[in-house]
Amino acid sequence: MTGTPVTSPPIAPAPGALPLLGHVLPFLRDPLAFLSTARDPGGLLMLRLGPVRAFLVCTPELAQRVLRDTATFDKGGAVFDAFRETFGMGVVGCPHTTHARQRRAVEPAFDPSRMPGYADTISDEVGVLVAGWRPGQVIDLNAALHRLVTSITLRMLFPTGVTDQTVTDVHDSLHTIMAGVYWRVTIPVAAVHALPIPANRRFQRAKARLHAVLDELVTANPQTDGGAALPLFRTAGLTGQALHDEVTSVLVAALEPTTAALAWAFSVLGRNPDAERRLHEEVDEILAGRPAGLDDLPHLPYTRRAVTEVMRLYPPMWMLTRATTRDTELDGHRIPAGSVVMMSPYALQRDPTVYDEPDEFRPDRWLPGSAVPPDAWLPFGEGDRKCLGYSLGFTEVMLTVATIASHWRPRPTRPGPARLVPRGDLNPGPLPMFLERRH
Ligand code: HEM
Repeated sequence: MTGTPVTSPPIAPAPGALPLLGHVLPFLRDPLAFLSTARDPGGLLMLRLGPVRAFLVCTPELAQRVLRDTATFDKGGAVFDAFRETFGMGVVGCPHTTHARQRRAVEPAFDPSRMPGYADTISDEVGVLVAGWRPGQVIDLNAALHRLVTSITLRMLFPTGVTDQTVTDVHDSLHTIMAGVYWRVTIPVAAVHALPIPANRRFQRAKARLHAVLDELVTANPQTDGGAALPLFRTAGLTGQALHDEVTSVLVAALEPTTAALAWAFSVLGRNPDAERRLHEEVDEILAGRPAGLDDLPHLPYTRRAVTEVMRLYPPMWMLTRATTRDTELDGHRIPAGSVVMMSPYALQRDPTVYDEPDEFRPDRWLPGSAVPPDAWLPFGEGDRKCLGYSLGFTEVMLTVATIASHWRPRPTRPGPARLVPRGDLNPGPLPMFLERRH
């Protein structure tokens, strides 16, 4: 193959490998701390996860190269095996060979012209959520936000038929499913997950429930017009299993990372009173108590910087993985076909050679003219597989943060730094918050 060196210099191993197990223990025990020590200015490190060897990409330039060459670095390996097995062959997990066709079919639903309708759905749903809050109440804000985003996403997808019960069913089943998917990725041994033990039965029941609810909603919405996404999927010619898979894929892709980004936003603001005060001043001046709408976004620059910075410190998709479809080369090293290539937006976005004081929450590093190279911010991925809901997801987070913050100040009940819980996505876990009314 052209460009592939005949002899390849050895790739340095990541630190902390043990005989036989390699990096399994540090990776399972505290993957984020482990990744923070596994840096290499040259670009690549070798990871040994038991019998599996993986290449860890350590610079933004190399990550961009991998993410942009989707024919060579395709979705595959344990993460996508588990995703496809659970959620089907929709656009999120499909291979490169079918991706362009699948993406073309769902893309019209994310056209900028659809944004005003989706923004109205977001504002309405946030309004319903906060209308139920009482001053002094302590809630698990993460669970509340997951339910909120479930409701928003279902209503963006389906013109009719979404009830409180549907939202509860999807919210509850996904909670169980995502935990199960994590274990299927961590222990990719089919026989273990087929054992008739309670955890596996719960997983299968939750999976069946999710797919049944989505089938009912697809059947209840046969039309090809209306403001939601499903009619556009139908107009693009999707039917049967292909339609079901795209709906499932988009729902899951939207729900988990958006919830995590929102949960991190409130967790970080609750621990950074100066930033929180500046955000309050901005939303008070611009919104004056109204729910935030699409037209307000250009007038909320501090909120935008704060959300950008939250997603730098806590990218919900903390690890992206690819499998090579052919022999190739990276940074002068030979990478055989079938290799696992990993890159962590979490580690890349805290690289001290790219970001000053990388662990600090400093929204003003994003002021216009900032020195941060634009390619070093990757929470939505890059290339052909870059998040299809990039603009929608960012808008959803901004509108929700601004609308909630203009009336409420959720205070963490636990002092100290936030917990980092990397599972399928990076999430702060349960977030007990004391609700203080601002206005
Ligand atoms: C803050 C919120 C979000 C974040 C951080 C996020 C992050 C990501 C990332 C990193 C990827 C690429 C994964 C990879 O390369 O392996 C991705 C893909 C995707 N996301 Fe998002 N996402 C968010 C919200 C959304 C929303 C709201 C939607 C849809 C309503 C959505 C739909 C998708 C789809 C369909 C893909 C697959 C694209 C493809 O392979 O062509 N995401 N997302």
